[in-house]
Amino acid sequence: MHYLRLSVLCALAVFARPIDSVATPFPQNWNDMHTKHRWNVIPGEWETISQPPVGTTIDLSIALRPHHEHALADAIHEVSNPKHPKHVLFFILPPTHVTLLHSRYGSYLSKEQVAKLVAPHPYTLELVEAWLRYHGVPPSNVSTSHGGNWLTVTRVPVSTANELLGASYQLYRYAGTNKTILRTVGYALPPALHAHVQTVAPTTYFGSPLTSQEIARGHGRAAGALSTRDVRVTPALLRLLYKSVTYQPAATEQNRIGVTGFHGQYVGDEDLKTFMIRFRSDANDPSFLVIDINNSGYDPKKPGYEANLDMQYTQGIAWPTPHVFYSIGGLAEEFIPDSFIPVNNNEPYLGWLDTMIGSEDIPQTISTSYGGDEQTFPPDYAKSVCDLFGQLGARGVSILFSSGDSGVGGGDCKKNDGSGVVQFQPVFPATCPWVTSVGGTIEHPEVSAPFSSGGFSNVFKRPDYQTDAVPGFFQQLRNQHSGLYNASSRGFPDVSAQAARFVVVLNNKGVIMRGTSCSAPVVAGIISLLNDYQLSKNRPVLGFLNPWLYGTANQGFNDITSGSNPGCGTDGFSAVPGWDPVTGLGTPDFQRLLERLPIPTN
Ligand SMILES: *[C@@H]1O[C@H](CO)[C@@H](O)[C@H](O)[C@H]1NC(C)=O
Ligand SMILES: *[C@@H]1O[C@H](CO)[C@@H](O)[C@H](O)[C@H]1NC(C)=O
Ligand SMILES: *[C@@H]1O[C@H](CO)[C@@H](O)[C@H](O)[C@H]1NC(C)=O
Ligand SMILES: *[C@@H]1O[C@H](CO)[C@@H](O)[C@H](O)[C@H]1NC(C)=O
Repeated sequence: MHYLRLSVLCALAVFARPIDSVATPFPQNWNDMHTKHRWNVIPGEWETISQPPVGTTIDLSIALRPHHEHALADAIHEVSNPKHPKHVLFFILPPTHVTLLHSRYGSYLSKEQVAKLVAPHPYTLELVEAWLRYHGVPPSNVSTSHGGNWLTVTRVPVSTANELLGASYQLYRYAGTNKTILRTVGYALPPALHAHVQTVAPTTYFGSPLTSQEIARGHGRAAGALSTRDVRVTPALLRLLYKSVTYQPAATEQNRIGVTGFHGQYVGDEDLKTFMIRFRSDANDPSFLVIDINNSGYDPKKPGYEANLDMQYTQGIAWPTPHVFYSIGGLAEEFIPDSFIPVNNNEPYLGWLDTMIGSEDIPQTISTSYGGDEQTFPPDYAKSVCDLFGQLGARGVSILFSSGDSGVGGGDCKKNDGSGVVQFQPVFPATCPWVTSVGGTIEHPEVSAPFSSGGFSNVFKRPDYQTDAVPGFFQQLRNQHSGLYNASSRGFPDVSAQAARFVVVLNNKGVIMRGTSCSAPVVAGIISLLNDYQLSKNRPVLGFLNPWLYGTANQGFNDITSGSNPGCGTDGFSAVPGWDPVTGLGTPDFQRLLERLPIPTN
């Protein structure tokens, strides 16, 4: 509390001065640094190499607190929950008095409306600008980004960044690779800024070179030699199993589906054609639009297993719905000091989200099969990135993430604070309450996949839409595993789908893949078909899915009630009747979901 009062006092003192002179009168305020985030040890497999070369610059993204803290969450809830209480509008038109019940369900927000919702208080902006100016950052280097509550400061010399953030930027290399990043193990801000700045990036989020989910790669066979009679999972099998096989998309003029590719994962266009000829023979000339985010190096002749899997299965389910492939890049192979390093090469999620949020026209459904242990993300960074997914939800975009492939946790499951304490390891962004996370099943009848990641966040509290589902699970769990997971927080995954024995064409060979990387594109394909149906009836698309999924759509899933997700030296959680942190609500039944689609009444 003392801390909070101090920051308010400083803030008032600064504010009382004309803005032009704030920099000099209180230099002690700007030089008094309090830690914002710091790791006890260098994260993961990263090792220090050296100081960056003299003259190296860095682009800093600064997330500012919105003036209205709950405005975004409230808006998402209103536009995404079919059961949101209706507002009563009185139309008093003498001589008749009319009362209308008005619901905002499906009234998705525009880019500008979202920007207004998340805008910081003007005072927040003034304070941050004064701080930047004190350190010699000219206003011309500062612009707003990511929907308006982020600032981007371009080409800051590393020496200046170190002063601004009480940081010590170094070059780090991922053990056994040449992948090099510029990071600091800790950073700080003047007390007056703590209440106004959510996070600064890139600072302490290190990530890992390949964060896509674990893949078991089969022996390559010539693609033509693969038989659909094998007990392999193919689009034909999935369309039968999930009952979408008879549906003919009818809104392909308006509907689109997006697939992301990080870390040099590119979709092979020839492989897609081969796959579709073999496994979706009714599909002629499958194609996709490539959006190359800041020189990702996209090359269709260098296909990646993850990108091919994702694109082949969204196409396999949702064809002929138009597809967009976001080629995002990721960690660069080597650090080139004298060239400008695009911010998104360092921060793939932020680079991609900035482009998405700045765009007027976003695909209604997006599939992403990447993630990492939640504890490797600084909490403030995770919250800020999650809010950006929330911005997309408010705009009517359904975002699906794979839940991860390590059960309740992989490795030794030790907390990364040096304490040695073991806890289950949830996966981010799957734990972000504004995304729909997809776990895995195997076999038929379906049981949960033993690798399906699931559990409870240590960062995000339980969202309203899980108010009934999660306590229902705890009643069946009793006290098992208590102390290893956080009972008050967001449970994941939300839903699931088949996740093993997937046939994928890579470099003209058939390979077999498994992981929740398989299940996310399948569910995204099904959701995209449901969006197609809504659009064909002139209804709003489904947007942020979870309030509907946990509400009326609940009965549109095949409840998975056997199997478990072992990890951290335990048996993990069990799949049980109702929602569980292994398979969520279950696997989709397209026909039953069609019957449960929201029909806005006004
Ligand atoms: C401001 O931008 C210029 C030109 O892009 C760059 O050379 C300079 O280093 C930047 N200064 C700061 C403090 O960010
Ligand atoms: C790293 O780069 C060096 C020099 O370019 C190269 O010889 C080496 O094979 C690379 N190492 C890895 C693991 O890619
Ligand atoms: C990335 O691309 C976007 C859109 O093309 C552009 O506005 C932005 O300036 C680029 N950012 C960097 C860091 O190159
Ligand atoms: C449990 O989760 C809440 C958010 O729901 C978080 O504030 C708290 O720090 C978490 N506890 C632990 C021990 O991680």
